[in-house]
Amino acid sequence: MSVESKVKRVTTRVLSEMKLKGEKISALTAYDYSLAKIIDHAGIDLIIVGDSASNVMAGNETTLPITLDQMIYHASSVVRAVQRALVAVDLPFGSYQGDSKEALASAIRVMKETSADAVKMEGGVEIIESVTRVLSAGIPVMGHLGLTPQSIHKFGTYAVRAREQQEIDKLLSDARLLEQAGCFAIVLEKIPARVGALVARELTIPLIGIGAGGGVDGQVLVIHDMLGINREFSPRFLRRYRDLFSEINSAVESYIRDVKDGDFPNESEQY
Ligand code: KIV
Repeated sequence: MSVESKVKRVTTRVLSEMKLKGEKISALTAYDYSLAKIIDHAGIDLIIVGDSASNVMAGNETTLPITLDQMIYHASSVVRAVQRALVAVDLPFGSYQGDSKEALASAIRVMKETSADAVKMEGGVEIIESVTRVLSAGIPVMGHLGLTPQSIHKFGTYAVRAREQQEIDKLLSDARLLEQAGCFAIVLEKIPARVGALVARELTIPLIGIGAGGGVDGQVLVIHDMLGINREFSPRFLRRYRDLFSEINSAVESYIRDVKDGDFPNESEQY
């Protein structure tokens, strides 16, 4: 029997056993109670309350504007819905990079006010002091390397990362550093598949990819993208499982027609 099919609650230890046994980890983002309830019911292993909420929930161009209070609001809504999956919450831009004391205070707020299982932080050596301090308080940390959207203004592009040897070397050394510090997993975003596979082979902790190829230990997608609610984002790595934009649009058109025609509500739909 697989590790994940017998667990009632996914923990960091379960994820690490899954890597050991070669069982792939399924992950999605969520930001609200209703969708989190559905994806947890479907059996997802890991839910990331991503700061991509800034894009798909609030309509911002980047992830930078979202605040710690807003992340806490999204995360606590998700946690209330979830019974099985491990829930990790992004620390937003500006809440951990410059000062490890502030990083710890932000992580403690997330853990206390949302009851989530872990926090996620973007970057390697540049933020290692913050990562170490948060871990030393007993808070599980997930890393995030490759394309790190909180640094978009530094890179200036959402293009594939780690194509050149120098960047591959840095990625590998950052991943090793995060593992040595005690991170329980790392998200690898938008890097060549061969680099994703290389990092996954080198590390003992699970590597969860988004646009990092099939050689990593698990996959994550943004829920609004994979359901086709958000149609404005079509990178090569995205598989759309539904076209909910069209389905919701057509349902709303039918509703509008029924209201205008006086067909809704009918006799059985009123008191
Ligand atoms: O913010 C986000 O949605 C993420 C995912 C790529 C995991 O970081």
